[in-house]
Formats: sequence, structure tokens, C-alpha cells
Amino acid sequence: MILPIEDRAIAQAAALIRAGQLVAVPSETVYGLAADATDGEAVARIYAAKGRPSFNPLIVHVGSMADADAFAMLPPAAHRLARAFWPGPLTMVLPSRTGSPIAALVMAGLATIAIRMPSHPAMRALIEAAGVPLAAPSANASGRISATRAEHVSASLGDRVPLILDGGPTRHGLESTIVAVEPERLRLLRPGPIDAPALEQASGLPVMLVENGAIEAPGQLSSHYAPGKPVRLDARERRAGEWLIGFGAVAGDDTLSASGDLVEAAARLFDALHRADAVSSTGIAIAPIPHGGLGMAINDRLRRAAAPR
Ligand code: TXA
Ligand code: MG
Repeated sequence: MILPIEDRAIAQAAALIRAGQLVAVPSETVYGLAADATDGEAVARIYAAKGRPSFNPLIVHVGSMADADAFAMLPPAAHRLARAFWPGPLTMVLPSRTGSPIAALVMAGLATIAIRMPSHPAMRALIEAAGVPLAAPSANASGRISATRAEHVSASLGDRVPLILDGGPTRHGLESTIVAVEPERLRLLRPGPIDAPALEQASGLPVMLVENGAIEAPGQLSSHYAPGKPVRLDARERRAGEWLIGFGAVAGDDTLSASGDLVEAAARLFDALHRADAVSSTGIAIAPIPHGGLGMAINDRLRRAAAPR
């Protein structure tokens, strides 16, 4: 359903978000496919709707500096950038704060989090009305170009998104600038509406351009979380010394989903890997995951976790 932006549509969208559903919403850059960033299963539904074959980390959209500070650790340069460009088309990649309520699937297991405070009134109103931060990638099917109009969203995602808020064409028509904020420098991961000279001036730090910066798949990032012990896939039972992560009929020390639900499994994946790494076992065994739908993305991540290092 496509609804023009007005109070009733925002209230309806907020109710869907709170119920763990997806809403497409315009921002000043491109349309986003939004879900409650604190709800792992809602976030898993984003990947399912986009048909992403792997888990690419998502941007968390916040309405206040208090939320940004609650989810990430902002060095002084990040505060300077926020004062200069937020709300607006700048995404900052920062160390994630321990104990943050953001679902691990949003970061795809990374220790960093991408945060943006959008300026579009519809997205701001939705964050406010839903009362939660929104995880939102661009609202297009995987591998397709970003949506800058509501019709693009419906053409690309169709009925996989229950509600599309129509705010007309977006202002920038281009995704946000993504910058990793480090103590001594900024790394420009994705060029966008805010350019390198503006970033240098506002932050007081040099900007390093990164070729192919924004990660296409989390496994390409060297700092990406990988378990510190051997991982064995397609395991139906535990071998000596192993911690077994079950799925469906394969019961383990832990399970991704006892009922065999792929949305639940995706939501639990990174937490389960972290837990398996923390226990005293010498290896991790993981039950077979069916390959359809979200199973593709889960298996992609598991293959990377099991790859010899
Ligand atoms: O303008 C935008 O940024 C739009 C609107 C909806 O806000 N969103 C958007 O999201 O373009 P998406 O998912 O299509 O692109 C997000 C990019 C991805 O390339 C992802 O790899 C990168 O952000 N990213 C997210 N978290 C990251 C992290 N911790 N480290 C490095 N890159 C990260
Ligand atoms: Mg995108």
C-alpha cells in the first residue's frame, strides 16, 4: 500500500514498525526500507525482503544525539561532524557501545556501527512516533539501483513491503556520504552529498579516500568478526570438544531456531556465534541450514566463518 505522508499514515507506519514489520520511508537521500533496529527478527525481514544473498551491515537512523551516544562511542571529531551536518546526509561509522540495544544483525557481527540522523520530516516523524531507532538500507531489491520515488520502491519490492510512505522524489537522489571516524583521521567509505573538503573543514581531521570502501559484504572486511576456533558446517551431532549450534530437529547446546524458522535464525546468528566463541569448547559445529530465502544469507555468513584462516 502506498500512502501520502500525513499524520494518519505516520501513525500507521509507526504501528507497523513497533509490530516488527517493514515500512518504506523517504529520506533526503533515497527511500529507506525501515525496521526497528532493536528487534533482530524485524531486521532479518529487511534482508529477506531485499533478497540479499549475504548480510551487509545496515545504517541506524536516529532522531537525537542522546540516541547516537547510547549506541556508539563518539570521539570529539564525531561531535563536530554531527554539529555541522546532522540532521543530514552524513553517515558515521563508529565503535559500537557495549550494552547497546541495537540488534547484532544490524552490524552483521561487526564491532562498529553506522549511524545517521536524517533530516527528512517523514523519517524524523516516523522515528519519533515509533519511539525506536530505524535500521534502513536503501529500499530496492539487492543489486538494483536505489529508489528515489515511491513508485521505484513498489516496482522493486512490490508486496514484500506492507506500507510505502510517498513523499515524492527525494532531494539528493544519492545515498549519504559514509565516513569512518578514527582518532587521527577520517576514512571516506562512500562518497555522497557531503564532500571530502567539507568533512576536513568541519572535523579538523585529514580525509583518506578508500577505494571500494563501503563493504559489499561483511566478510570482505578484515576486522569482521570471525570465531577464534574451527567451525564445522552441516553437523547433525556434536563431536568431542565441540559446541553444537542447532537448527530445527538438530538440537544443540544452543539453537538458531528450534522451530526451523529462518527469520528467527538470522536474528540469532551473530549472538550465537559470539556465545559459541566465548564458551570453553575447542570447536564449533553448526547444524545444516536450508538454502532457500534467508538461508542463502545465513549460509554465506557460515561459509565465511568456517573458511580456513
Ligand atoms: O542515504 C543512505 O545512506 C540510505 C538512506 C536510506 O539512509 N541508506 C543506505 O543504506 O544507503 P545501504 O544499506 O544501502 O548502504 C549502507 C552502507 C553499506 O554499503 C554498508 O556496507 C555500509 O553502509 N556500512 C554499514 N555499516 C558499516 C560498518 N560498520 N562499517 C563499514 N560500512 C558499513
Ligand atoms: Mg543500497
